[in-house]
Amino acid sequence: MKAYKIAVIAGDGIGPEVTKAAVAVLKKVGELEGFGFEFTSCDAGGCSIDKYGIPLTDETLNTCKASDAVLLGAVGGPKWDAVEPALRPERALLGLRAGLGLYSNLRPALMFKELAAASPVKNVETMDILIVRELTGGIYFGKHGRADSSEVLSDGSVKGLTAYDTEEYSTTEITRILKEGFRYAQGRSKKLTLVDKANVLESSRLWREIASELAPSYPDVTLDYLYVDNCSMQLINRPSTFDVIVTSNMFGDILSDEAGMITGSIGMLPSASLGAPGTPGMYEPVHGSAPDIAGTGKANPLATILSASMLLRWSLGETSASDRIEKAVRQTLADGFRTPDIKRNDDPAGVSLTDTEGMTAAVLERL
Ligand code: IPM
Ligand code: MG
Repeated sequence: MKAYKIAVIAGDGIGPEVTKAAVAVLKKVGELEGFGFEFTSCDAGGCSIDKYGIPLTDETLNTCKASDAVLLGAVGGPKWDAVEPALRPERALLGLRAGLGLYSNLRPALMFKELAAASPVKNVETMDILIVRELTGGIYFGKHGRADSSEVLSDGSVKGLTAYDTEEYSTTEITRILKEGFRYAQGRSKKLTLVDKANVLESSRLWREIASELAPSYPDVTLDYLYVDNCSMQLINRPSTFDVIVTSNMFGDILSDEAGMITGSIGMLPSASLGAPGTPGMYEPVHGSAPDIAGTGKANPLATILSASMLLRWSLGETSASDRIEKAVRQTLADGFRTPDIKRNDDPAGVSLTDTEGMTAAVLERL
């Protein structure tokens, strides 16, 4: 029997609870579809700092590199707030993204009709957006640092300490992520929106030039452009009109939280981080480690379970198993199971509160 190698990074906070749920779902779906898994647990983030003094060890990175895919819970928490910036738990994520070459981050913001009432935006009936976020470039990885200057300015003051982070994008980086955006749009509703700040930033202008050069190669896709400030407004105003959004690392970080919230709960949103063909992808919920609810059973495991479904689809090519999980999640919601983040006081009869384990058991039953 085929056994896929999966590196599991449970991480911090609710990470271990939600990855446990997703691993159980993967095992079950494998049994049903006739394949197996070899799971290897790795440390990264705060738990790695506690054990090894650093957020990401070579051992973890090498285990991930040698796997078919990586499943990650979440990293970070207030316990490590005082740690110096270069050693913070979040550095583990950046190290994994860079180390595995995961330049393409897929963040679907899909509204489940059962949860439409939980959206903070009024009258949103449908929403199915795929955010394609560039993940290994831009201001996250550009030159950054501090410089002290004794230069005396025209008003007589001394310039003093300056801190800088630089937005830099090469043609290669832009081209490969834009091509991904066009490709995903072709497989969906054929609308691609490039989100940037081309009225101010030179790097954004290069994104636009390259996008307009590529567009004729994808004649079935309608390409449009939005400035990021306008996009943040239009997401609230007309969320159902977007299809694929392609954007830089920083803008994608911000817009994916916004889009996620419009769907009703960030506790529902999965993500995939992908690199060149043949490299292992990394799959994780968009929500963080939620240390305030860790250990209480309140965590919603669905984002991680849906991330496992993306893992099957995008890294293993097991589309039937992936579909099976999505269907089971929909049925679980339709049958009224709700963790606290998606439970409302005015829910109809038949909808009831459950916990992490209850939700997981309900999905397992419906697979
Ligand atoms: C995300 C997170 C990370 C990011 C942080 C934790 C480094 O916000 O994955 O969206 O900014 O990319
Ligand atoms: Mg973020």
